[in-house]
Amino acid sequence: MSGYTPGEQPAIGERVVKLNTNENPFPPSPKVMQAVHEIEAEMLRRYPNPTADGFREAAAKVHGISMDMIMAGNGSDDVLSIAMRTFLGPGDLVAFAAPTYSLYPVLADLGEVKWATVPWGPEWGLPIDALLALKPKGIFLANPNAPTGTFVAISKIKELLTRFSGMVLIDEAYVDFAVENCVGLLQEHQNLVISRTLSKAYSLAGLRFGYGMGQASVIAEMMKVKDSYNCDAIAVCAATAAVLDQDYAKQTWEHIRSERERLSAELGAMGWNVLPSRANFVLAAAPDGDGKGAYLGLKAQGILVRYFDKPGLQDKIRITVGTSQENNALLAGIRALSAKAA
Ligand SMILES: Cc1ncc(COP(=O)(O)O)c(C=O)c1O
Repeated sequence: MSGYTPGEQPAIGERVVKLNTNENPFPPSPKVMQAVHEIEAEMLRRYPNPTADGFREAAAKVHGISMDMIMAGNGSDDVLSIAMRTFLGPGDLVAFAAPTYSLYPVLADLGEVKWATVPWGPEWGLPIDALLALKPKGIFLANPNAPTGTFVAISKIKELLTRFSGMVLIDEAYVDFAVENCVGLLQEHQNLVISRTLSKAYSLAGLRFGYGMGQASVIAEMMKVKDSYNCDAIAVCAATAAVLDQDYAKQTWEHIRSERERLSAELGAMGWNVLPSRANFVLAAAPDGDGKGAYLGLKAQGILVRYFDKPGLQDKIRITVGTSQENNALLAGIRALSAKAA
């Protein structure tokens, strides 16, 4: 089987404009750093609370649901892996619309779960009929999707949940940069599991913290599958402080949304074809159709973006929305490439 290929991670302090792994360009909330400084030796001597209850209480308050509808994970990748292992076994079939997050097939392969993909519908719409025609046991959907950034309307997800009785995992890693989310569908749909991460919206990719949401009976099944102490004491403490500081996080989301629109418009004006994004990144096709050339040309200038050597993506690069300054550096880098080609 093939493993997952992560994006490049240069050493801390290396001088690059890093727009390749969809990190938030702003630092975590000062309250997170304060919480980490206040950690006592006793907290590390003991095992942590096995279900990260401090975090679950805080997240329950933020989402207006009960804490037994939440499970904490060591990054949302952990939540995705737990969901796959809880609901799908060897020989079952899981379906995705492709392209999407390349970890899903890896998790399926690890569990000897069969997987199949269908192409996205027109305008990146959810191909419900084609997905159901595969007769899967489960469906995974990233919304906003990666690496496209495109968004499926919540009404379409509701339709899927109504027509399909198997488990539907909605991966909302990027949803805080969009406008709507699926939390409101949880009460009514027992077959829905939502995964979230603190890596992007809360500037904590290095911490490794995510969580899953579902009806209490569904979360109880996932709790049986997770590692006994899957979240460490420091991570729980920092993640709790992060979700409780909504004002700080929301400021970063606003800034990223407005920079996303500016970046999309300026790339469009330079002849790039940019997909409409609701995430903290944009997928853009190079005017000359050479995504790899753009990726290498930017890398030579110290600007890292992501290139996927896969059918349908070879003319494109994925650019994480950075600070205004980083985005200006990216735009200048692209201008330099076009000047060289002319
Ligand atoms: C769609 C999607 N889901 C989940 C993740 C993983 O996030 P985490 O850092 O919480 O494991 C990513 C990371 O890039 C992603 O793109």
